[in-house]
Amino acid sequence: MKQSVNGRHFLDLAAIDSASLRLILTKAAELKAQRKQGTMPPYLAGKKLAMIFEKNSTRTRVSFEVGMVELGGYALSFNGSELQLGRGETVADTAQVLSRYVDAIMLRCHSHDKLEELAANASIPVINGLTEYSHPCQILADILTFEEHCGPIKGKTIAWIGDGNNVAQSWIHASALLGFTFRLACPTSLNPLPEVVAWANENGGNIQLVQSPQDAVKNADCVTTDTWVSMGDPDPEAQISMLAPYQVNEALMALASPAAIFLHCLPAHRGEEVTAGVIDGPQSKVFDEAENRLHVQKAIVLWCLNII
Ligand code: CP
Ligand code: NVA
Repeated sequence: MKQSVNGRHFLDLAAIDSASLRLILTKAAELKAQRKQGTMPPYLAGKKLAMIFEKNSTRTRVSFEVGMVELGGYALSFNGSELQLGRGETVADTAQVLSRYVDAIMLRCHSHDKLEELAANASIPVINGLTEYSHPCQILADILTFEEHCGPIKGKTIAWIGDGNNVAQSWIHASALLGFTFRLACPTSLNPLPEVVAWANENGGNIQLVQSPQDAVKNADCVTTDTWVSMGDPDPEAQISMLAPYQVNEALMALASPAAIFLHCLPAHRGEEVTAGVIDGPQSKVFDEAENRLHVQKAIVLWCLNII
């Protein structure tokens, strides 16, 4: 685990231990239950989060901002180009300056190296709000959603169909921490990074790369996918044509466990990676999943600031 001067960074699930992951999930569930009863403890009174977005966002931006406010804190949001960072101020200087003003920084950026550089130079916690490599905040929300509907994830099977992208790679990290099977069907050139798969399999995970979507979903407890074109992907047309056989549709869902749920981090493209019948159908829990981003973000900030 990377330790900053005033708290803990949340850069990747591979860099945190399973006890911390469980602590965050448990706190998120508790905060969710309290919020439903109208109680929102002011754990973050006076705390400030700076958020920098080099890429678009709906869920990440709004859930962090609302989460900070609901717990008594404050969030400031910037796109990358409006800061001096956008016209050449260094990441290191930005990290040091923001560390004098706020209590934590969330960054969504194109390059994971930039996130690491920000963290290395900040004296406050840095949170990964999505890079081309991983999306750990999302996967905590996904696991919370899965466990609400299907019980403990340990020993269960999650099927991933499509692009072995940033979201898939955070699922792979989580497989090692929480002991579930993560079975992927991806076009070979869109497989997740081999070192990410190897790391998980060497650290208690069970990552299975299979040939076809049909093989992947067989008896799975959850089927999940993501957009065929991620933000920053260089060749959208090639991705779309490669991924055409990887749609999650009703026929594919029928091969999963009858109790299987469907998850998608959103934004979704109906008629591409998923049919409307699946994402808007009874097995889909995508809006619970989106809601859970709020509860999880709060718990992540509490963990980063050593409040839990
Ligand atoms: N799932 C997710 O991160 O959504 P946004 O891009 O809207 O933040
Ligand atoms: N894989 C997608 C996730 C968006 C939340 C992307 O990186 O664009």
